[in-house]
Amino acid sequence: MCGIVGYVGEREAQPVLINCLKRLEYRGYDSCGIALLGGRTEVYKDAGRIEELEKVLQSNESRTGIGHTRWATHGKPSEVNAHPHTDCSGKVAVVHNGVIENFLHLKEQLTNEGHTFRSETDTEVIPHLIEKYYQGNLEQAVTRALGDIAGTYAFIAIHADCKELVVARKDSPLIVGIGDKEYFVASDAPAVLDYTDRVMYLEDGDIVVITKNDIKITSNGKQVARPECRVPWSIEEAQKAGYDHFMLKEIHEQPRVIRNTYAGYISTIEPEINLEIKRAVDFDNILILACGTSYHAALVGKHVIQRLTHIPVNVDIASEFNYSDTVVGKTLVIIITQSGETADSIKSLKKAKELSCHTLVITNVVGSSATRIADDVLYIKAGPEISVAATKSFIAQLIMLYLFALARASVDVRSRGSLIAELRQLPNKVHEILDREGEIAERGKYLAEYENAFFIARGINFPVALEGALKVKEIAYIHAEGYPAGELKHGPFALLTPNTPVVAITTRDNTYETLLANIKEIKARESPVIAVAEEGDEEIEKYVDFVIRVPRVDPIFSPVVNTVALHLLAYYTAKERGCSIDMPRNLAKSVTVE
Ligand code: F6R
Repeated sequence: MCGIVGYVGEREAQPVLINCLKRLEYRGYDSCGIALLGGRTEVYKDAGRIEELEKVLQSNESRTGIGHTRWATHGKPSEVNAHPHTDCSGKVAVVHNGVIENFLHLKEQLTNEGHTFRSETDTEVIPHLIEKYYQGNLEQAVTRALGDIAGTYAFIAIHADCKELVVARKDSPLIVGIGDKEYFVASDAPAVLDYTDRVMYLEDGDIVVITKNDIKITSNGKQVARPECRVPWSIEEAQKAGYDHFMLKEIHEQPRVIRNTYAGYISTIEPEINLEIKRAVDFDNILILACGTSYHAALVGKHVIQRLTHIPVNVDIASEFNYSDTVVGKTLVIIITQSGETADSIKSLKKAKELSCHTLVITNVVGSSATRIADDVLYIKAGPEISVAATKSFIAQLIMLYLFALARASVDVRSRGSLIAELRQLPNKVHEILDREGEIAERGKYLAEYENAFFIARGINFPVALEGALKVKEIAYIHAEGYPAGELKHGPFALLTPNTPVVAITTRDNTYETLLANIKEIKARESPVIAVAEEGDEEIEKYVDFVIRVPRVDPIFSPVVNTVALHLLAYYTAKERGCSIDMPRNLAKSVTVE
C-alpha cells in the first residue's frame, strides 16, 4: 500500500515523479504529494488523485525529488496527512510506505524535545528524527533515526543541503531503476518502465545513498552490491490499450495469459507436464496459504490437487495461519500471492519457514519479496496487473495449480493426456465467453439495481461463488455473500426476498441435481436467480430467471470458465453503477500492512 518514488538525474524531476506516481496509483490513491530539492525543499500536496495534484504544481527545474501516493493507515486522507512529511525547519522531506509501530512514543519524546507535529501520521516522526540527528551528513542521520524506529518501512529522505536521495527498506518493497546518469526509486518496477527496464531489488536492512552518478548500498554497516535485473514486462503491457478500464483489458488478456502460464511446462510433442519444483523435497501433505482472491484460487487448488494426486491439502487464510497452532509434518507449504508483497502472506511464509516446512511461492512478480524468502518459486507470467481487482492473475494461478497437480497426478496416463489436451483448449473456451460479453453486460445492468446478492455453488465451484461475490462487493459496492448452496438454508434463507438476487453456478458435475433442488427452494422465496450454466443445459431454463452461458469443459476446469463469466458480470454491474472500477474506494493493489 502507498506508492513511493524518487528521482535524481539530469531530467526535470517533477514530470518524472508525476509520471511514475500515476503508474503506482493502484497502490493507494486517497491523497498524494511530491517534494523537490532546490535551494530549499519545495512540497506540493493534494487530498485527492494525482491529476488534482498536477493542477497545483508550479514550474520547477529541480533535478531531484520524491513523491508519494497514499493509502491511509494513520490519519484520514487529507492534505496535511498526505506525504511528503517535513521536519520543523522544512529542510527534510520524507515519503514512506509501511507502518512505524512505536510512533506514538517517538512523537511524545520528540514533542518534549521541542519538535512540532502537524499530521496524524506515523511517518512524520521520521523527518523529525532525521532533523534531530543531522550534523551535515544525511546518511548518518537516517542511520541513527533507524536505530529508534520499530516497524516496517520503505522510505526516501531528502535534505535541502544535500544533493542526494537516502533510501531505507525493511519489509516493504523497493526497487532502484538504473538509467544513464540518473536513478529512479519506486515501490515497484512498472513505475519506472517508461525510463528504464534495468532495476535492482533492495533487501531488508539496506540503506542506499543515490546521486545522479553513483549509488552506494550499505547493509549492517558494510557496503554491498545488489544484482541488476531486467524487468520482463513492456510498457505497452502496463497501458490500457483502448479499453475503458484496466480490469476489462486484463479480462480480455486471459486467453493469452493462460497460454503464457502453461507454455514451457507442457511439451507439445508428447503431452506431458514438466514441472518439478527446484529442490528434491519429500512431503506427504500440502498447506496452501493466501489472501483474498488468491485464497479463492487456493481453495480451487485444494480440490484439483486432492482429486488428481490424492495428496491431502489444507488451505488457510494467510493472516489466520499466523495465529494458528497448525501442526505441520512433512508439509509442503504453498503461498499464492499475485504481488509477492502481501504482508500477511509474507508473514505466513516466514512462519512456515520457521516451522521447517519446504516453501513454494506461486506469484506474478519477478523479484518480489516472497520470491526472495521462499525455497521455490513458480511464476504465473500473467504480465502486469494494474486493476486493483485481480482477474487474469487469478486465472493464471488456477492454471499453475492445474499444472502442479497434473505433474503429480496419480490418474492413468490416458486420463492425464486428455486433461492436458483440454487444458490447452481453455484459451479458446475463454474466447467463447468473451464473445458473449454483450449478454453478460445485460445481466450486469440487471444486477446493478440491487444492494444485496448471494452467489452459490457446490464443490469445486464454491470458491468461484466466493470470488464472484468478492468482485461484486469490491468494485460494484453491492453487499454480496458467497455461500455453499447447501448452507443457505441454515440461516441466510431469512434474507431471501424478491430484492435479493441469487447467482447460482450450475456446472453439470456431481453437484448439479442437488443444486437444482436448492434453486427451487430459493425460487419458492421469490428471489430472482441468475444461473451460470453450461452450453446445452436446457433443463436449467425451467428454474431460473436468466442464464449466463459458458462453454462445456471437464468439470475440473469449470472454475476457469465460470470465473471469467463472473468477473465480466461484476465489471458490467460496476460500470452500470458508475463505480471507480480500477481503483475501488478504500482499496489498494498491494496490501503491505497486516
Ligand atoms: C481482490 C484482490 C485481493 C488480492 C489480495 C491478495 O480482487 O485482488 O483480494 O487477491 O489482496 O493479494 P496478493 O495475491 O497480491 O497476495
